Amino acid sequence: MALKENIQTLLAQVGEMKATSAEELESLRIKYLSKKGEITALFNEFRTVPGDQKRELGQMLNQLRQQAESRINELKEQFEAKQAEADKLDLTRTPDPIALGTRHPLSMVREEIEDIFSRIGFTIAQGPEVEDDKHVYGMLNFAPEHPARDMQDTFFIEKEKGVQKPTDVLLRSHTSSVQTRVMTSQKPPIRVLCPGRVYRNEAISARAHCFFHQVEGLYIDKHVSFADLREALLYFSKEMFGSETKIRLRPSYFPFTEPSAEMDISCNICGGKGCSFCKGTGWVEILGCGMVDPNVLEACGIDSKEYSGYAFGMGVERITNLKYRVKDLRLFSENDVRFLRQFESC
Ligand code: PHE
Repeated sequence: MALKENIQTLLAQVGEMKATSAEELESLRIKYLSKKGEITALFNEFRTVPGDQKRELGQMLNQLRQQAESRINELKEQFEAKQAEADKLDLTRTPDPIALGTRHPLSMVREEIEDIFSRIGFTIAQGPEVEDDKHVYGMLNFAPEHPARDMQDTFFIEKEKGVQKPTDVLLRSHTSSVQTRVMTSQKPPIRVLCPGRVYRNEAISARAHCFFHQVEGLYIDKHVSFADLREALLYFSKEMFGSETKIRLRPSYFPFTEPSAEMDISCNICGGKGCSFCKGTGWVEILGCGMVDPNVLEACGIDSKEYSGYAFGMGVERITNLKYRVKDLRLFSENDVRFLRQFESC
């Protein structure tokens, strides 16, 4: 009778057999079915059972063994299925590409300009975008009635709400304001590059915007000459647009430089032969420059008899257009990813 109870206890145990790993399952198999296992032991015991009980207990024992085996096989199959699923994961496979953002083309070009000039000793100077009249115009030799101060050109910060009139506080219209700040706070020699955003009151179109970006440069020392300016600009043009690039300086006018010039480079799109970009001339204008007017040096507290200097200023959008042929200025500020993605590999 004891055998019968043992069989029933084991039957109940076998029905509830659980394993969380292949190792656990193997130890269950050993526990019940191996040579020294509990079920095998019952078979040994069965030999001593009186003949009249053999039939019933024999059937029960066989049933117990079968149930144990099939439960173990069932669990084994579950583990194998899990393993097969895990084997499908190829950990050496190249991962799906993660979409990375791109650097903005204007930032890339600005950094390239900074890099080129830093190699000949220029350091970066920055200043505020909200400025006063003195730093943007006054100290730069603009006459009080100069048209640049007109409200068509300059954004003034309203003092009285809703009243638009020239005030002392304005959005800088060029980064020359940073140069006046550097000249009044540092002693020569000065060699700075002033990158930054500037604002002008223009109607937004493909060719004009109410803000854009400039990089201006200033070098003040003893005996700085126009030849030094020309040499620095030729170096820059070749580094930026290729060693074949030629430059041409045309006389111009700016209140803060004397003499002043505008610089053209040989059109890098047609190589100077003439195309629609350069309107058939073979040249494109890229910057304004000149020798710092002695009035400006004096206004900033620098002795114009001892020191001279040159300055130049360029629009980053213009340089970017030349490099990447962007036809519409608005693309730079709309943040359309279809446009920005085109610069992924640059
Ligand atoms: N400040 C001028 C502009 O905004 C550019 C310039 C800078 C010209 C320095 C000459 C010298 O157009």
